[in-house]
Amino acid sequence: MSARNSVFSRVAPEEDSGVYVQRFAVAYEYPVYFTRGAFDPANPVFADAIARLEPTHRHRFVVIIDDGVVAKRRRLGMEIAAYAAAWAECLELAAEPDTVAGGERCKNDPALVERLQRRLCDLGIDRHSYLVAIGGGALLDLVGYVAATSHRGVRLVRVPTTVLAQDDSGVGVKNGVNAFAVKNFVGTFSPPFAVVNDLDFLDTLSARDRVAGMAEAVKAGLIRDAAFLAWIESSVEALRAFQPGALEQLVRRCAELHMRHIATSGDPFEQGSARPLDYGHWAAHKLEILTGHALRHGEAVAIGMALDARYAVQTGLLPAGEEERICRLLETLGFRLWHPTMEHTGPDGAPVLLSGLREFREHLGGELTVTLLERLGHGVEVHEIDETEMMRSVAWLKDRDAAR
Ligand SMILES: NC(=O)c1ccc[n+]([C@@H]2O[C@H](COP(=O)([O-])OP(=O)(O)OC[C@H]3O[C@@H](n4cnc5c(N)ncnc54)[C@H](O)[C@@H]3O)[C@@H](O)[C@H]2O)c1
Ligand SMILES: [Zn+2]
Repeated sequence: MSARNSVFSRVAPEEDSGVYVQRFAVAYEYPVYFTRGAFDPANPVFADAIARLEPTHRHRFVVIIDDGVVAKRRRLGMEIAAYAAAWAECLELAAEPDTVAGGERCKNDPALVERLQRRLCDLGIDRHSYLVAIGGGALLDLVGYVAATSHRGVRLVRVPTTVLAQDDSGVGVKNGVNAFAVKNFVGTFSPPFAVVNDLDFLDTLSARDRVAGMAEAVKAGLIRDAAFLAWIESSVEALRAFQPGALEQLVRRCAELHMRHIATSGDPFEQGSARPLDYGHWAAHKLEILTGHALRHGEAVAIGMALDARYAVQTGLLPAGEEERICRLLETLGFRLWHPTMEHTGPDGAPVLLSGLREFREHLGGELTVTLLERLGHGVEVHEIDETEMMRSVAWLKDRDAAR
């Protein structure tokens, strides 16, 4: 992230009011590179990502890698060291790359945050040094939080390695870890310095994780871009076969829609009550917790989108039949649209899933705002959810799943 064009306008106190109004705006800018072979010394992208603002300086950087990535690419640490040596005029690797347990585990371990912060402290990392995070969305969220809170903000370069992280989370402005059994309870809004989407990393990803990340692309199509949704439908066979060209197109378009939303929504740091990008997410976040993270984020989002699509049909917002179209697409991609925890009840007999609505509101504050569909490609915000009707939608998904 480079914060440039900082504008300061001093507003003089109103006569006798005693109020000084402080006002400034900071423009953020960060590149998202699409490449392959990011750590091939012949590829200048990674060096450029780090050195682009001060090309004549030598930049210190520390690397933290997801252990799921290392398991499939044991020499990655050495490749990075060789890359740094080849670009020694502008890069200095401050220490051997660290490996950290990837997946949701790393967001559930408070000791890890402190361990990584201490590591940066020990290595003398300052605000002009770089923390490079290589991994899935969970590891990027953790390391992003460590970067944002060390020295109040060390430069962060993300190298996302899953479909979900490349097409959604890694190109955005959020980070965080889980606390008190609430997802992302602790975190900040902090744009990265740069993002390097190296599509080669997707080759080692499990089939399950390749599919999971496609949920965010379906989401982007559903709420923003009917043509993209139609393309996903027409490419579904290529996508479920993980054909590289199709997967690349999906990742690029989804990332672009995500970035455009952040840049143009007028609320990049979500200060209002709305979370328009979070279609299907109120239920998804709750399901991730209820299942003890047995469901991947993308898998939970797929269920949440199907649920809210059915609810929109039942309440007359979305034309009947469209929910079937959405469910069919998600199932053809490989998602299962049901989980037994959806009908679990608490001690008071109420469905636990529904507390996800309250938690969704609490995460932002303000009025409950849920994005629903009024047609494919177009999301609208609603402020009330009929819980009885929502549980009928849950029952519909259950029956549908049983019939398959
Ligand atoms: N910050 C945001 O805006 C935002 C948005 C959406 C999701 N998220 C978060 O992202 C997380 C989910 O991320 P995810 O779907 O990328 O899954 P993940 O990070 O949980 O990774 C899934 C698994 O894949 C492994 N892995 C990662 N890259 C690999 C590779 N190239 N080859 C082989 N294995 C690899 C990991 O070790 C892990 O076991 C959730 O915590 C979610 O809350 C954040
Ligand atoms: Zn998501």
